[in-house]
Amino acid sequence: MSEAELMSTEEAVTESAYEPNILGFLCNWCSYAGADLAGVSRIQYPPNMKVIRVMCSGRIDPGLVLEALINGLDGVIITGCHIGDCHYDTGNHQTERRYNALVEALAYTSFEPGRIRLEWVSASEGTRFGEVISSFTDQIKQLGPNRIRSGTDEGRDLLTELRAVQNLFETHASRTLLGKQGELTEKGNVYHEKIPLEEFGEYVHQNIEVGYIRNYILVSAKTTPRSVHELAGKLGIGTKQVVDQIAVLLRKNQLAIDSMDGSTPKYLSIVQEDDA
Ligand code: FES
Repeated sequence: MSEAELMSTEEAVTESAYEPNILGFLCNWCSYAGADLAGVSRIQYPPNMKVIRVMCSGRIDPGLVLEALINGLDGVIITGCHIGDCHYDTGNHQTERRYNALVEALAYTSFEPGRIRLEWVSASEGTRFGEVISSFTDQIKQLGPNRIRSGTDEGRDLLTELRAVQNLFETHASRTLLGKQGELTEKGNVYHEKIPLEEFGEYVHQNIEVGYIRNYILVSAKTTPRSVHELAGKLGIGTKQVVDQIAVLLRKNQLAIDSMDGSTPKYLSIVQEDDA
């Protein structure tokens, strides 16, 4: 066998030998019971998933999903009761809102959206549980290993992006918007004023867009001073958008001018825990 043939055979073996590490958050009342049913019914599905059982999918904060991905897991799946069947009434509505916001925030990054998934699986759907896990595992196999583990510049860039998204979801504004949506759009505020769903959605969208830029600046400039042009290039946006958010961060004492490169200021983050 020639050297080239040997190499391509080795590559094929390595590719086919790739077994992704997947984390599954399973709701105790539905999906976990569905997984049990799949087990006792001897339904076959890939063994790549480590399970964390939670009392309700509504307990899954986007920060937990991001922490798993930042730590190098290849994919994360959240499963819960079907809409209308949540043991705690509206927990899965909360899950859906958070998940959609997470997907929207990740769209600003280079992260592959196929690495996360939300599915509703009931206690009686053992077969469906097996199918969902098989299909998600196949999808992750297609995507290959999480680039964060690659040790390359691309992997480091992705790490910065995911940390920015994680910090965004830890801000007071994000927690309030995502936690109070149901209350403010359905019951109203203390003055009994309901915010139309569309208007509320716009607040959420604005918070994600601006919050991502601010948190990206803070994470990116945490240890290395950055110029506006560097940040705009990494974010893929215009310099004016970066300047606007730098002005806010300077005002909030979260960022400072560290040094000058000629006439160009370089900024450094001066916060440990950010709430941009
Ligand atoms: Fe299952 Fe809430 S109890 S999603």
